[in-house]
Amino acid sequence: MMQTDEVKKKDLTQKDTLLEVQNLKKYYPIHTGFFKRKTGDVKAVDDISLTLRKGETFGLVGESGCGKSTAGRTILRLTDATDGNIFFEGENITKVSGSKLRKARQDYQMVFQDPYASLNPKMMVGHLVDEPIRNYRNKSHKDLKPEVQHLLKRVGLREKDYYKYPHEFSGGQRQRIGIARALALNPKLIVADEPVSALDVSIQSQVLNLLKELQEEFDLTYLFIAHDLSVVKHMSDQIGVMYLGKMVEVGDNESIYREPLHPYTQALISAIPEPNPLIKKERIILKGDVPNPQNPPRGCVFHTRCPMAMEKCKEFVPQLKEVRPNHQVACLLYENQ
Ligand SMILES: Nc1ncnc2c1ncn2[C@@H]1O[C@H](COP(=O)(O)OP(=O)(O)O)[C@@H](O)[C@H]1O
Ligand SMILES: [Mg+2]
Repeated sequence: MMQTDEVKKKDLTQKDTLLEVQNLKKYYPIHTGFFKRKTGDVKAVDDISLTLRKGETFGLVGESGCGKSTAGRTILRLTDATDGNIFFEGENITKVSGSKLRKARQDYQMVFQDPYASLNPKMMVGHLVDEPIRNYRNKSHKDLKPEVQHLLKRVGLREKDYYKYPHEFSGGQRQRIGIARALALNPKLIVADEPVSALDVSIQSQVLNLLKELQEEFDLTYLFIAHDLSVVKHMSDQIGVMYLGKMVEVGDNESIYREPLHPYTQALISAIPEPNPLIKKERIILKGDVPNPQNPPRGCVFHTRCPMAMEKCKEFVPQLKEVRPNHQVACLLYENQ
């Protein structure tokens, strides 16, 4: 308790910070055998820290299975953290419950990857969008209709879409409904979990532009999750790269793209298609898949796939350290810098 209060005080001095995540862990227990004994843990998120500044976007990237969604869900308190602390506007929300949690939840919302699965198909759009408001305010659908129709227009839908059902919309429009729903309570933070991954490439930029406009207009802070660095590039002020539950590189957007330091980030950047066919780009192909997080490699978790791996990488766990201004990396290549 003592320790928590100290951390809390330190945090309050950082004025422009909206969210601070410190040493967050989320482990899922594995139970096996007839007696369902606990035999281990899936370390989905294994000690990550990050800071979201007000009005900015933090892009969280990494291949599928790296723990991005789990990180987002744990930060929003949709699931309990195993360890670590989450501060929202200086207040430690890691363990709040009951009415305090309910109150805190108004300030942060999630936009999901699959807008179809996350919208109840039996509810009409107007009621889907006013549901979060009705959870908090004692108002009827009728009371809220003008507000909801205004919101629908703001996300690029029409007033009469209020009466339609999710199946009557395209993927891009459905994601707009999801965004309207997330905005309904006028939140401060939105965690957007791969919001355009399920959409056609031609639609993706429209939805990304909408998210950017809304950010300006409503002074929103985003944690923007993607498996692909090209999507994150145009959205983010800061970028964090995750691999197997760990943050391997964090920095300002420009610094990360100009000089990616971690071999994993270098590989992800090399995979971004180059629009100019005259520019030849060397693609770094990573061997194999992300290892099973139930049984992660010893030493640096990336060493089994790293093109630069050294003998010592099998043994020593690299720690994140700042090797350029506002740019941290966890890799033994930078050990002596
Ligand atoms: N509810 C759960 N129970 C057990 N394991 C889970 C659960 N949710 C996610 N995982 C595991 O945690 C790891 C990270 O998953 P996830 O956060 O979905 O990664 P990402 O979003 O980067 O694809 C995966 O190995 C996944 O199988
Ligand atoms: Mg995910």
